[in-house]
Amino acid sequence: MRPLSLLLAAVLGSLPGVAGAPYGGVRAPRLLSQTGLYAAPGRLDPRNRAYSPQYPLWSDGAAKARWVRLPDGAAIEAGDEDAWTFPVGTKFWKEFQFHGRKVETRLLWHARPGVWIFASYAWNAAGTDATLVPEEGLPDAAEIAPGLRHTIPGVADCRTCHENGRTEVLGFTALQLSTDRDPGAIHGEPPRPGLLTLEDLVKEGRLRHARADLLARPPRIRAGDPETRALLGYFAANCGACHRMDHPLDGLDLDFRPTGRTPGEPGLASTVNRPSQYTLPGEAPGTTLRIRPGDPDHSAVYSRMASRRPLSQMPPLGSALADREALDRLRAWIARAPAR
Ligand code: HEC
Ligand code: HEC
Repeated sequence: MRPLSLLLAAVLGSLPGVAGAPYGGVRAPRLLSQTGLYAAPGRLDPRNRAYSPQYPLWSDGAAKARWVRLPDGAAIEAGDEDAWTFPVGTKFWKEFQFHGRKVETRLLWHARPGVWIFASYAWNAAGTDATLVPEEGLPDAAEIAPGLRHTIPGVADCRTCHENGRTEVLGFTALQLSTDRDPGAIHGEPPRPGLLTLEDLVKEGRLRHARADLLARPPRIRAGDPETRALLGYFAANCGACHRMDHPLDGLDLDFRPTGRTPGEPGLASTVNRPSQYTLPGEAPGTTLRIRPGDPDHSAVYSRMASRRPLSQMPPLGSALADREALDRLRAWIARAPAR
């Protein structure tokens, strides 16, 4: 493990699967071409459906493509709208490109009941196939900016974000695929034909026990204005995997999961004018606020997102570059003093 993983494993000590998880004896194939993504070299298997979560994760500006493969005829158990249960055999892939070149493709595979395989494949220079990356990950996978390299996370890092005790799948959710798509989402892709939506899933009978009015009242973040909605969506995707009340980190009482039901939303209630356990440089212990309305530079949330020092950056994993666009929008929003 890299030191950062060790640190997180210590903080997240009780997190299942961080170290030595049993993978049910199942292994990820050695080559991406053996995982079922392609029907023939360079040609996607048409049974793998493209989708795009309305609120994507920031990964150093990588261009991403995502596909899901649900086993033929199988349905998702969708009774719990915040944590769908996927049939055994389900596979997700996420491809990362930097500067127009494919760098890695990640795989999340429900291989056996209760066993999820996490793997990443590093593309060869010719772009013909990609090879399984070692468990520890792969530093220096590509140059993302002058002197800055993209690191492919190790499996412990994948699990730190993806295993929060309820569902391993983070971006294929009722909210993320909602037909009420947020036009202001940060780095969000506009809808386009061919992207799987909540409506397709309902019409194709892929959701079992979903509420009857799911399409009439699709999930949506309740916020008083469009920018607050977009920022809460950003937090949900980029921070909510760890900062949520059903995660081992819940002791921080920092909760970015949107409920889609209460206008107050935990993402506001647990940040605006709320004390942080972190102390900003120059502030007296106990006086730092997570979001100080009107003052982004004295808001822990803004400061930790802007940092890329290993011990203070947020998220702690998965990116080497701060997200400029998100920071600019968050800054303007805090400066306008969000009301509770
Ligand atoms: C910083 C936290 C983080 C780390 C580390 C991380 N992921 Fe993810 N991953 C996410 C989030 C959030 C999404 C959903 C948003 C998106 O797709 O942009 C996601 C989406 C995915 C998806 C699409 C299915 C889904 O859950 O939505 C796959 C496949 C995936 N990740 C695999 C991996 C693998 C394999 C690793 C390790 C090599 C990894 N991830 C590391 C946060 C993370
Ligand atoms: C991979 C898990 C993970 C993700 C994702 C993550 N954090 Fe954190 N965060 C932590 C851990 C662990 C701590 C506690 C240790 C520390 O302060 O570094 C923490 C602490 C914090 C704190 C200080 C605690 C407090 O009481 O205020 C803030 C603020 C914070 N995170 C904001 C964010 C924001 C904003 C995001 C998304 C942009 C984010 N985090 C994403 C793991 C994560």
